[in-house]
Amino acid sequence: MLFWICKTPAKLTAGGAQNVVTFNDFIMDTNSTAYTCWDGRRAWIHPGLPSRCTYRRGIDPSKSPHHSQKRHPSTKILPNILYKIGDSPLVQVNKIGKSFDLQCEFCIGLALTAAVKGYGCIIVMSDRNSMEKVNTLKALGAEVVRTQANVSFDSPESIIRVAYRLHRQIPNSHIMDQGFSPDQVDMIVCGAGTGGTITGLSRKIIEKCPGCKVIGVIPYGSILAEPEETNESGIDYFEMEGLGYDFIPTVFDQQLITKWYKSTDKDSFQMARRLIREEGLLCGGSSGAAMDIAIKAAREYGMKKGQKVVVVMPDSIRDYMTKFISDEWMEAKGFIDLDNKDSEELLWWAKRKTRDLNMKELITFHQNVTIEDALNIMNNNGFDQVPVVDESGNLLGMVTVDHIMSEFTKGRVKVTEPVSNILFKHFQQATMDTRLGFLSRLLDVDNYVAIVHDHKQYKADGRELTKTMIINIVTRIDLVNFILRIKPEKK
Ligand SMILES: Cc1ncc(COP(=O)(O)O)c(C=O)c1O
Repeated sequence: MLFWICKTPAKLTAGGAQNVVTFNDFIMDTNSTAYTCWDGRRAWIHPGLPSRCTYRRGIDPSKSPHHSQKRHPSTKILPNILYKIGDSPLVQVNKIGKSFDLQCEFCIGLALTAAVKGYGCIIVMSDRNSMEKVNTLKALGAEVVRTQANVSFDSPESIIRVAYRLHRQIPNSHIMDQGFSPDQVDMIVCGAGTGGTITGLSRKIIEKCPGCKVIGVIPYGSILAEPEETNESGIDYFEMEGLGYDFIPTVFDQQLITKWYKSTDKDSFQMARRLIREEGLLCGGSSGAAMDIAIKAAREYGMKKGQKVVVVMPDSIRDYMTKFISDEWMEAKGFIDLDNKDSEELLWWAKRKTRDLNMKELITFHQNVTIEDALNIMNNNGFDQVPVVDESGNLLGMVTVDHIMSEFTKGRVKVTEPVSNILFKHFQQATMDTRLGFLSRLLDVDNYVAIVHDHKQYKADGRELTKTMIINIVTRIDLVNFILRIKPEKK
């Protein structure tokens, strides 16, 4: 999800191959008290309130809040790129469906939007989103504000609350949250973030093909799906960008969904890589999630020869060059096993274990230590990152100089606050038995790796919890020192 803040009114358009549907209800009325939450002095609009959109299935088109425009005829030179909206191609997937022995047709709808209206634009996005996205948006002239991914939607630091804070501070600004047509479509498979895409597309498709099944895709760890029990997965973090939230967005119409499926990062990214390699479709990760689930749903619903399954592909490879496109990133995250046997044979140290390293003495911060004290201690000891633990020594997260700097310079924390307010939770982890060959690949992706030990803790009520103790932190220099120090002895 991205939040756009524009300094002049704008309409956001989305559409199918034949017409363009304009969602006027993306611009919310901030004067409506029923839609306004207060955090002390400032107002923000709860993103999960019922929609006020008056669209209903079968509505008389003259009364519909959305209007359709005729597709622009394909002239050789378009007046600007916005004329391409609503002209998304539908492309047949040739090899992947067959490799699963499925006879039905799979088609991919490619969506493309661009901002050329020249509005002053601030994009608020979480730090789960890639730097490629940030840089592209900046190149398009937008100002990008980043927030933490692992906070709940109603936390003051969530994208929604930060966007509303900016909206109130910037005079004359408006806030918008994000909100094809072959003859017959039997199933449409689409990932859901805000649910705007799946809502808009399936309304139109069900109108034209009433029996069409609508399959919603969200990652394990997000809560959009119904029935609610399917959301209890024990997973609270996923790498997938664009899909799944911890609230039900206003724009999203649950009733349209025939069935929800949950996607895993591993299957989704592997499928995105297959779409690229086998079909030549240079897609993003959520397209892989939708395609992977399309195969599973087509099987479950027994889709037959001649039936059409349309899979929605929202974005391109461009934003993921340092993520799922990279073999090293995929391996570090545990999504593929690279066959490194040959190169590891050549590297004498690759089969040694983390425990062989000569690690520095570990320091940790208790969660109540202030950011100022933490910075002084890190400065005096030459550490760039230190683990933060609770009373029992369980690992809560990391505090890093980079993260403190970025939060502090943006005025999001005061140095008198405890380090628990600035925890960084998603970092590479390994154990004392991890091979140094693999550790070096984790260090290709991140500056440090936390060496941890998991244990089971039984509670008085019989619950079993997995707790993580921190053993040490390994950085690139620890590995380099080991290789340099030991190598002469091996000669
Ligand atoms: C890459 C990607 N895929 C899927 C989606 C989901 O779209 P929607 O928010 O309309 O559900 C988004 C939304 O930002 C996205 O960025």
